[in-house]
Amino acid sequence: MATAVSQLLEDYHRRTVRSRQLAEEAQASLPGGITHDARYFRPYPIYIERAAGSRKWDADGNEYVDYVGGHGSLLLGHAHPQIAKAVQEQLARGTHYGACHELELRWAQLVQRLMPSAELVRFTGTGTEATLLAFRLARAFTGKPRIARFNTHFHGWHDHAAFGVGSHHDGSPSPGVLPEITDNIALCPPGDIEQFRRLLSEHNDIAAVIIEPTGATWGQVPVTPEFLHQLRKVTSQHNVLLLFDEVVTGFRVSPGGAQGLFGIRPDMTMLAKILAGGLPGGAIAGRRDIMELLDIDACGRQGREKISHHGTYNANPASAIAGITTLEIVAETDACGRASDCAARIREGLNRVIREEELAWRVYGNFSNFHIYTNPDREPVTVADLDSGSFDYRKIKAAAASPAVGKLRIGMRVHGVDIFGWPGGSTSAVHTEEDVEQTVEAFQKTLRALKHEGDL
Ligand SMILES: Cc1ncc(COP(=O)(O)O)c(C=O)c1O
Repeated sequence: MATAVSQLLEDYHRRTVRSRQLAEEAQASLPGGITHDARYFRPYPIYIERAAGSRKWDADGNEYVDYVGGHGSLLLGHAHPQIAKAVQEQLARGTHYGACHELELRWAQLVQRLMPSAELVRFTGTGTEATLLAFRLARAFTGKPRIARFNTHFHGWHDHAAFGVGSHHDGSPSPGVLPEITDNIALCPPGDIEQFRRLLSEHNDIAAVIIEPTGATWGQVPVTPEFLHQLRKVTSQHNVLLLFDEVVTGFRVSPGGAQGLFGIRPDMTMLAKILAGGLPGGAIAGRRDIMELLDIDACGRQGREKISHHGTYNANPASAIAGITTLEIVAETDACGRASDCAARIREGLNRVIREEELAWRVYGNFSNFHIYTNPDREPVTVADLDSGSFDYRKIKAAAASPAVGKLRIGMRVHGVDIFGWPGGSTSAVHTEEDVEQTVEAFQKTLRALKHEGDL
């Protein structure tokens, strides 16, 4: 008789025949068969054909409650009718004018209205481009070379951010990254203000510090508002720019992002994901005196050399209209609050299952996110310990790479739920009570299967 886990695997194989065929075929065309590292999945990923609201359907017709949410860009769910209509109408009017257009202005005005730090806005193609541009601006503005980053915080995949996230935590260069680049990044332990203060006291070549303001990986390694306030204070004292990477938190934790919620004004903010309503797009927003380094005339007047920035798809009309429609809904409804309430119910439900199954796992998180800590050493850690950010981030990250996580995701998929590999998920404003119930039930069935197999 098949064991529980191999039964789950067998079920996965049985349910996803077409996905498996496509995954095998993809090996000949795409490195590793995938187009984004986070989509790597063993034995093979599922192929999605369509999505609506909180759900998506794979190539074999299986339905999933989706907590990947377009990598977090879909606060309003898949194929939101208003966004879909606005984009369709725009497609008929053209996707690229190679010229200025009113939509980019309206989009920027919405960002200015919602994000407290947005004195001026420059659109980019992605979040990665936004952090890259912010680093260049910070270096040009201050005349200093080094950027401070917090270990495990993700800021996209460009060279200045491609180490000290999932590996190379000692700051050494990951393959393809020049040592001259890593030499100009100072990696700091997350959440340790004293160490950060020391860094600034001992080095006067730091241009800026960048942070995911609710913590690394959607708050998986949480950062407290107190830490952010201290960071603002210390950076101001040392004349170091504070960069909030609100690619995830922007328009999610509140319409004004983390800065609006916590009342902290960074010098520059990086945005993407929800900003563009599920289409490609990013932006930096920030202080006029810094952003003017992108302004040809202002630089001319000030006798400064402008910094270079291009990008074929910056503020393209399709992304702009999707972004405008999304941000208007975010501004005028309680979409952020609904998504956060839903995640709170999921955290509560999953923790109830964990208690019933007498496991040492913990589900924690803030706002519209939930994180599952598999606690491999069965430590007496509480949800509050994890939420406080005081628990060792290395343990959290090591647990995320444990074999139990892969099995958990297979089990959840077999029971019709797709979660992120952190492991965890992010909710939207359109997830329903039925979705929450199905998720909790899928979790219980999966844990029982894993227990039965002797994996827990
Ligand atoms: C916090 C954060 N910053 C930057 C990025 C990079 O954004 P993009 O994938 O649009 O390049 C991401 C992407 O997930 C992110 O989570």
